[in-house]
Parts: sequence; C-alpha cells; structure tokens
Amino acid sequence: MGRSNVGKSSLINALVRQRVARTSAAPGKTRLANFYRVQRGSVPALYLVDLPGYGYARGGDASAREFNRLTEAYFERGLGIGDQGSVGTLRSSQSPTPDPRSPVSIGVLLLVDARHPGLDTDLDAWAWLKSQPCARAVVGTKADKLTRAERARHARKLESVFDSPVPLVSAETGEGLDELWKLIARLPNPRTAA
Ligand code: GTP
Ligand code: MG
Repeated sequence: MGRSNVGKSSLINALVRQRVARTSAAPGKTRLANFYRVQRGSVPALYLVDLPGYGYARGGDASAREFNRLTEAYFERGLGIGDQGSVGTLRSSQSPTPDPRSPVSIGVLLLVDARHPGLDTDLDAWAWLKSQPCARAVVGTKADKLTRAERARHARKLESVFDSPVPLVSAETGEGLDELWKLIARLPNPRTAA
C-alpha cells in the first residue's frame, strides 16, 4: 500500500519481471485490489496484492473517500480471511483469488517515495498499519531518482521517522529487489527470519 503514484504497481511488475500490473504517470491508476499469484522456486506460492493508492483521486474528495474505504475494507476482510473467507470480494475480475479455505499469513509493505521522507499521509498510514494485526515494513521507492548523497541522507531520515529499517528500491533499475524478495519471504513470520 502507499500513496497514489508512489510506484506500487511498477514495483510488482519489477518483482515478477513482467508487466502484469497497469501503471501510469498520472496518479489514481489502480482502482481495485488486484491479486497476483507468484510461485518462485521451492518457496510456497504467495500473492502480491496491489491496492489503490491513498492521497489522490481524480474524482475529488468523494472518490478519495471511496479509495480509503476500499483499502480499509480490504484489510478488515483480508486480515480476517481465516474466519470470513471474503478476501476475494474486492478482487479485479481478471485476477486469480486466494483459496479462502487455506491458512494465510499477511504481510503489508507500506511504500513511500524515498524523495519525500515523513509525509503526514504516510506517517498516518504507518500509525494505522501498526494498529493492525499483521506483519509490516516500510520500503522507499524510486531510489534511482536520488543522488548518492541524498540516498544516505534520506535513508537515515526515513528510518528515523518510521522508527524501522527502510530498504530503498527502484522499479526502474532493479536496485534493492533481491533484498526486497528476502524481506517479503520472511515478512509474514518475522521469527523465521534468517
Ligand atoms: P496508483 O495506482 O495511482 O496508486 O499508483 P502506483 O503507486 O501504482 O504507481 P505506478 O506504479 O503506476 O507508478 C507511477 C509513476 O511512477 C509511473 O510513471 C512510473 O513509471 C513511475 N515509477 C514507478 N516506480 C518508479 C521507480 O522506481 N523509478 C522511477 N524513476 N519511476 C518510477
Ligand atoms: Mg497502481
């Protein structure tokens, strides 16, 4: 999850090395929760879920509220998948859906633009995410847009405002993606982290 235009859909494409998620230079592109089933090597299959962004909506406030409602509904239902089995209700029609009978662990990545550490909307999202019963991590996107000096400075600032490690990634250059896969693999169950 993350602000509109932060690069959520692009990052999914970069992680799976295919253009599966639609992206756009204009914010407000992704309008439904889209599930992408990923099978890598011998690791059990997982779903990458692309959510609409917050903080922008072409239709103004009413539309922005609808995005927020959709995202919150995803979490409320998605996190309760074991009892409700309703995680698929917000899927896009083309996307495969997790089997609601399977046990599922959910980890959430909050994507923030590495150029803009500590925006209020991102801090609010992080505070809300910390109140949810799920594993979570912050990731800084568009690292290719930072100079080397900015990179070090912004990384420190990000880690300080989120009080958490914040790896930097670039969907454009592929920087940080191997590390991000490792983070994703251990996220739902941090105790198994290497
Ligand atoms: P919404 O669906 O509107 O919430 O946006 P999103 O977060 O999915 O963003 P999206 O992936 O559509 O990318 C938005 C814009 O940022 C596009 O023009 C992308 O090409 C650009 N972008 C995404 N990731 C990167 C990156 O790592 N580096 C650079 N330079 N541009 C990026
Ligand atoms: Mg998107």
